[in-house]
Amino acid sequence: MKDMKKEIDLLVTGIGELAGVLDGRFQTLSEVSIAVHQGAIVAIGKESELCRRYRPKETVDVEGRAVVPGFVDPHTHVVYAGCRHKELELRLQGKSYLEILEAGGGITDTVQKTRMASEVSLLQAAHQRLDQMLRLGTTTVEIKTGYGLDRENEQKMLRVIQELQGSAKQDLVVTFLGAHVLPPEYRDRRDAFVQEVITWLPEARRYASFVDVFMDEGAFTEEETRAILSAAQQLGFQIKLHADELANTGGARVAAEFGAISADHLVHTDDAGIHALKNAGTVPVLLPATSFFLRSSYAPARKMWDQGLPVALATDHNPGTSPTYSMPFVMQLAVFEMGLQPWEALVAATAHAARAIGLEQKLGTLDPGKQADLVVLNAESYVHLVYELGRSLVTAVLKRGEWVYQAEEFPKRSL
Ligand code: NIG
Ligand code: FE
Repeated sequence: MKDMKKEIDLLVTGIGELAGVLDGRFQTLSEVSIAVHQGAIVAIGKESELCRRYRPKETVDVEGRAVVPGFVDPHTHVVYAGCRHKELELRLQGKSYLEILEAGGGITDTVQKTRMASEVSLLQAAHQRLDQMLRLGTTTVEIKTGYGLDRENEQKMLRVIQELQGSAKQDLVVTFLGAHVLPPEYRDRRDAFVQEVITWLPEARRYASFVDVFMDEGAFTEEETRAILSAAQQLGFQIKLHADELANTGGARVAAEFGAISADHLVHTDDAGIHALKNAGTVPVLLPATSFFLRSSYAPARKMWDQGLPVALATDHNPGTSPTYSMPFVMQLAVFEMGLQPWEALVAATAHAARAIGLEQKLGTLDPGKQADLVVLNAESYVHLVYELGRSLVTAVLKRGEWVYQAEEFPKRSL
């Protein structure tokens, strides 16, 4: 009799627990297999049933481990030169982040080093950081410019990110953050810098889908932010905003007014700001590792979630306020410091995070048709992501159906 089975690229069997958003809600399924073909999830079901329908070219038994969707990190600054451990020491001795920034350190220090760096060295360093992220289960990353702060060096950052898009294992999306802080050479000419950034936008549009501004104390005012966002919107950029990180300067309200795809940080956002974000459908991207590292307070994640906002999480990886690569660490902080449940933290790090960068049709959930971006954990349940502190549980990573990372022991199960 003719074999009626459909050939597929990969069958992942022996999944003890599959956890993530499926059919529009968070689910955990036990003892299932996943059929993968041409980079996408084609079916989820019992092994015996999938074996009746499919003839896999490769079968991998994950020996009872938990599997979750690949993490999506929707807010990072991974392209930069140098590091800022000296600044950490100053902060631990009592200097504040803003004092250091105002004295010409902080972001400005990274800008100087990034301006001096060659494209090749920036590319190599960013590659290594993305590799670290991959080993921690991150399969999609947003990357911002903002350490060039002049035409030439912002362009350089955009080119580096474009190169990364061609060579990194992750999907990368690009955000232009020409207005990160005021560069020292514009100290008394704020308006001139804002006008200058606006002239960079048409060129940046060739590389970036999103424009972001750091609207905050010590960075840009509401009026300056509005000028840049209006110009960006006219060019077809989607809007993101660093909002209410250091003080409540109305960032959430401005993001909502511009119909921003996301508003990020939101540590000091008040009830009116939360309400505005909800009405606008703007995704709140929360960055608890930044609060941890700055020893500041945390964004009102619980309140936002309870009011129905699609809370997302990100690392904010950068050398000054969040040198972590780890979405599981961020999820732990979201649970222990912001009051989310483990399942909520997982949804925030996958499905909601995909919404924050406009990729929700492609990835972030387990629905058939979505990219096969999956993380295999060396644990029986996804809850271990927040339970086993200080250890990476990621034992293998599948990106668009390819094994892009496998720990030495994989697929054998060890403690
Ligand atoms: O998201 N808030 C503004 N920008 C970064 C910090 C960048 C830096 O300190 O180098 C952030 O925290
Ligand atoms: Fe940031």
